[in-house]
Amino acid sequence: MKNLRLLWIPVVLLVIVFAGWWWHTHTTEESSALVEGQDVNAVLKDPAVIAKGRYLATVGDCMSCHTEQGGAPYAGGRVIATPFGNIPVPNITPDPEHGIGRWSVDDFWRALHTGIGHDGEKLYPVFSYTSFTKTTREDAVAMFAYLQSVPPVAQAPKPLDLKFPYSMRSSLTAWRALYFKPGVYKPDPNDDLRAIATYLQSLPARPKPTVVPPSFDSASLVSRGRDVYAKQCADCHRDNGAGVPGVYPTLDGNSSVVEPTGINAARAVLLGGFAPLTQGNPRPYSMPPYAQQLSDADVAAVVTYIRQAWSNRASAVEERDVAAYRHTPVD
Ligand code: HEC
Ligand code: HEC
Repeated sequence: MKNLRLLWIPVVLLVIVFAGWWWHTHTTEESSALVEGQDVNAVLKDPAVIAKGRYLATVGDCMSCHTEQGGAPYAGGRVIATPFGNIPVPNITPDPEHGIGRWSVDDFWRALHTGIGHDGEKLYPVFSYTSFTKTTREDAVAMFAYLQSVPPVAQAPKPLDLKFPYSMRSSLTAWRALYFKPGVYKPDPNDDLRAIATYLQSLPARPKPTVVPPSFDSASLVSRGRDVYAKQCADCHRDNGAGVPGVYPTLDGNSSVVEPTGINAARAVLLGGFAPLTQGNPRPYSMPPYAQQLSDADVAAVVTYIRQAWSNRASAVEERDVAAYRHTPVD
């Protein structure tokens, strides 16, 4: 239950891969290509590359792990609980002492691609390099450019707190031999991941959600969801789904609630969340996680309800989908 957040990782990977692909096919900036022999420093300062990196880091959700509640963006400080102990999340701002300010783009690429840290240490796979290995080099360069552009924060990471033998990074050798294969994503037109590409295409433009006819008994699901919503959610998000401006997000017409898969909303309900403290978002209000409290059926019901209530017209989410988000192993 503790490492629920990780269930999301394979999806994040697909999202990054497709975000990269989307960017290639939908933007005209030529500078986003890193050509052999090109001046790396110039590429890293290129606003178009930085913009692309920002986009990829956002859809890749790097910030949700690498920012602690109320903390500066990407300065780390959170601790991720795993069955083996606690793994602190590092500072990835450009601070030379505590962040990745002294890293080269090759160091960064190696970390993402092979799970090896700056000093050659093996990284724990909770930093999902098993997925990020599929990121293309060009996309990694863009994310690095973006991360080097955020304000440096001199915040030391917390110490590792793992049980023996997991506390030894060398214990990862066997695991890596078994489970980890570096590789770069190669687009395959027959890939059945087109749905995610479609999702990404819908991101920047935010078109109206399509009406999906209910495929099963979603009427009873919706009425069950309405009850859960009234008891658990309406205090903050209000009966009309409008939330409280600047405090609790509106769910009515919210593109992350009505995105085609329903994963975002299910994940928000299971894991809760907090709005990271940033300039544009100076509010430490949080949403409790419901993973312990609500059954898969209740989560499916309430998510279906918020996807179909008010002006929202998105497809229902089924119990087995929620069960999958809850129980799918990381790899
Ligand atoms: C599920 C949480 C999670 C997500 C999402 C995540 N990271 Fe991390 N990341 C970690 C953890 C935990 C570590 C430390 C691993 C270790 O100590 O072995 C880490 C380590 C790193 C490192 C190595 C830093 C160092 O000092 O050694 C880099 C670079 C990094 N992450 C970049 C990223 C980028 C870029 C993204 C988004 C594409 C991302 N991370 C998404 C949890 C995450
Ligand atoms: C204590 C107040 C509170 C309660 C109760 C609450 N939420 Fe939230 N909710 C929030 C806050 C604050 C956020 C923003 C969190 C963030 O940005 O990560 C949020 C975010 C969300 C999001 C993500 C919206 C987005 O834009 O990504 C969804 C979906 C959501 N809540 C649904 C629910 C549902 C369904 C329930 C009931 C099961 C619920 N919430 C209960 C406060 C609450």
